[in-house]
Amino acid sequence: ITRTLCSSAVRNAAIKHVTVIGGGLMGSGIAQVAAVTGHSVVLVDTSEDILKNSAKNIQGSLKRVVKKKFADKPEAGEEFVQKVMNNISTSTDAASVVQKTDLVVEAIVENLKVKQALFSTLDKVAPAHTIFVSNTSSLPIADIASSTARLDRFGGLHFFNPVPMMKLVEVIKAAGTSQQTFDALLDFTKALGKHPVSSHLIQHCFSLRTLQASLLSGFMNEVCHGSKEDIDVAMKLGAGYPMGPFELLDYVGLDTSKFIIDGWYEKEPENPLFAPSPLLNKLVAEGKLGKKTGEGFYKYK
Ligand code: NAI
Repeated sequence: ITRTLCSSAVRNAAIKHVTVIGGGLMGSGIAQVAAVTGHSVVLVDTSEDILKNSAKNIQGSLKRVVKKKFADKPEAGEEFVQKVMNNISTSTDAASVVQKTDLVVEAIVENLKVKQALFSTLDKVAPAHTIFVSNTSSLPIADIASSTARLDRFGGLHFFNPVPMMKLVEVIKAAGTSQQTFDALLDFTKALGKHPVSSHLIQHCFSLRTLQASLLSGFMNEVCHGSKEDIDVAMKLGAGYPMGPFELLDYVGLDTSKFIIDGWYEKEPENPLFAPSPLLNKLVAEGKLGKKTGEGFYKYK
């Protein structure tokens, strides 16, 4: 909150206007934190109905924050929510809105061809200075960037779920990403109040997703012998996780989680960390996709 709506810092920054493409779980969260920190944000998705839902989710999330932070000043809280929402507009036409944007953050479906098609179109209409980034969890940034003629102004920003809560962002420097672009992305991440870690070396040596995958496969095996509740409580109270791993999987959506893990497995089939989880596959096949369907690892009302 102390860093919220800090428009003077944003006024002097290279990135002031942000277009977020994809108004799902990640895109809504990214739009929210960018708007909270005083950026002008356009959120893009394929239909007005989806965008209405995204705006509703952002407003709901802001109200939860305000309830805690402005507990004794409800009017100031209302005003804060309104100011943040005023920083966000929506559109179903990415090509028209990117014409005045400094940064495009893509958070659409995890499919290389679909991402390439989107960026190829936007590359032709976005201003020369505009930086493109993908929030992909499994696709190489260079492969996505290859659909454009701006390899030097193309990088990765990998956010974590839930975006408004999680402080970490992996900033990915692909082979073609210029130092200037990389520095601008580090600055932008800090302007969001997040902590950037640089990922240009870690694609194949260290990255949080490798760690997460190894923990995940360990947890999945463990849950065959023990209880998911115990694992969640242990990780929250003993390891300082804000959410237990099974709670997080349900929150992210088991279909999305499976999609991400399958993507890693496809790339590195010999890596045991990325081996398919029969338990996860069974739940997805039964349509138990987590919070959004009312049941995943847990049941929801
Ligand atoms: P989601 O399924 O909740 O949202 C995706 C949104 O993109 C949907 O609203 C969909 O209508 C929209 N969309 C699809 N194609 C589009 C297009 N061509 N133009 C405009 N909008 C389009 O997915 P989620 O979870 O938000 O993930 C988005 C991306 O972020 C994926 O690449 C995913 O791998 C990545 N990611 C996801 C994380 C997670 O924990 N869910 C963590 C880090 C990255």
